[in-house]
Amino acid sequence: MLRAGHSDFAPHGRVARDGVLLGGGRPPPPGARPPTPRERVLTSRDAPRVGGFLPWVGAGVTLLRDPTSFFQRTRERVGDTFLVEGFGVRLFCVFSPEGVKNLWALPEAEASKGVADFGMLAHKVPAELFAGRRTYPHMLFAREDVEVYLENLSAAVELELAALGGRGELEAFAHCRRLAHRMGLASWGSRAATSPRHFERLVEAFDALDSSESFVHPPRAFLTWATGKRREKAALTTIEAIYAEILRELPPLAADGAPSEPGFFDRIRAAWADVSGEARIQGIARDVVLVHMGSQSNLFAAMAWTLVHLIERPALLEAVRQGDDALLERCAHESIRLRQRSIVLRRILRPCLLADEHASYRLEPGLSLATMMSVTNTTAAPGLDRFDPDHYRGPLFQRTKELEGRELVTTFGHGAHYCPAARFSISAIRIATRALLERFELEPRFRDPAPLRRQIGGVARADRPCRIGYRQRP
Ligand code: HEM
Repeated sequence: MLRAGHSDFAPHGRVARDGVLLGGGRPPPPGARPPTPRERVLTSRDAPRVGGFLPWVGAGVTLLRDPTSFFQRTRERVGDTFLVEGFGVRLFCVFSPEGVKNLWALPEAEASKGVADFGMLAHKVPAELFAGRRTYPHMLFAREDVEVYLENLSAAVELELAALGGRGELEAFAHCRRLAHRMGLASWGSRAATSPRHFERLVEAFDALDSSESFVHPPRAFLTWATGKRREKAALTTIEAIYAEILRELPPLAADGAPSEPGFFDRIRAAWADVSGEARIQGIARDVVLVHMGSQSNLFAAMAWTLVHLIERPALLEAVRQGDDALLERCAHESIRLRQRSIVLRRILRPCLLADEHASYRLEPGLSLATMMSVTNTTAAPGLDRFDPDHYRGPLFQRTKELEGRELVTTFGHGAHYCPAARFSISAIRIATRALLERFELEPRFRDPAPLRRQIGGVARADRPCRIGYRQRP
């Protein structure tokens, strides 16, 4: 069992071993009532500090090599709350039930996800993309008629499966990546975007722009930075040019608001109805890009793991093939839980307090606050390191009562930042997986894929190709 808290605090900050500086508050006067955690207010520097022996590099190199193991090992050594310093960043980390619960509860104005995300993505994504956006995923997915996307998803899957032919070999992640591009663009980028004239060029450009690179392959961020984001800026220009063509082809929006096609693209167009010319094209294209980039982080990888886990378990696969959609959705939720690599990152904007089981910490602006789902999702109760669809009924995790805190296990997040596209994503995975299983016999040509170790965000990519032989079913 992991130790929570700081029973091994050294009183006045000394370096213990492996670059860990043990901090801690003043010892209470003799005979005094021990303070409650809320009364025991410490600064972020009083938490055990994990640095390194090179001052600026700090613990950064070790962390980036394998973030999940780094956090796990550090927890085992110093407890569930600690401060990591590296590459000039100060990361206040919490992994205990109380600490994680309080992280999720902090308001955006004090601990901002938006600013933290921007800091992470700014290395990769051209800054102009973030300015002046009018449509965000929340606006698209919050509406009652959200099920309009199902029709688009099925049409997109049909197109992609037809391209597979009668037999061959596919790589699960590459296949799902194309499929997710097609399903996503069909839903919010217009049907025209998935036509052969535009689709291949859009896929190429979106892959070049892909913001998830910054947390899937963190070292590549340096390359992007060193080249002044040339490749990414060119990709954005290409996408804008393609949308100029698409918008020329489409009939204007109906005056009575009747949709020209199912999906979200008309809503994005409507948001720019008061603008004309280049600014309109650019505005619409960039809104589509921002929604699509949100999707690229997780959806295809979650789809691929669902497929991989089913192919590894023929009995489950057969039950799904016989029509058990509820089982298929449970497999999707379980795959996401098990393969989550998301760091939950917040940037402190205003001084605030964050309590764990032992003390309250004063967090100062500029500090980053984090926990990592891959650590808690798999260790919060025995057996959570294994795939078992019985862990879910619908989207509900079934073992919450066994957890010391319900926030320790998550798929789509908690509270105010809960993923707006959760239902959409599960539908997309269900439709894509079912179509593939019903159409083809599948044969695994991979063994024991595991998450890519360096990844520090999103659903895991695999550490090896997951090849699958397919043959059309009679
Ligand atoms: C299986 C697929 C997906 C998974 C596992 C997933 C997971 C998550 C998680 C864990 C969060 C919360 C992160 C945090 O609080 O730090 C989140 C937020 C978010 N997701 Fe997803 N996501 C998925 C698909 C998508 C798709 C398809 C889109 C866009 C089309 C999307 C857009 C967003 C946005 C915009 C937020 C931020 C919400 C906010 O800050 O209020 N996600 N997602």
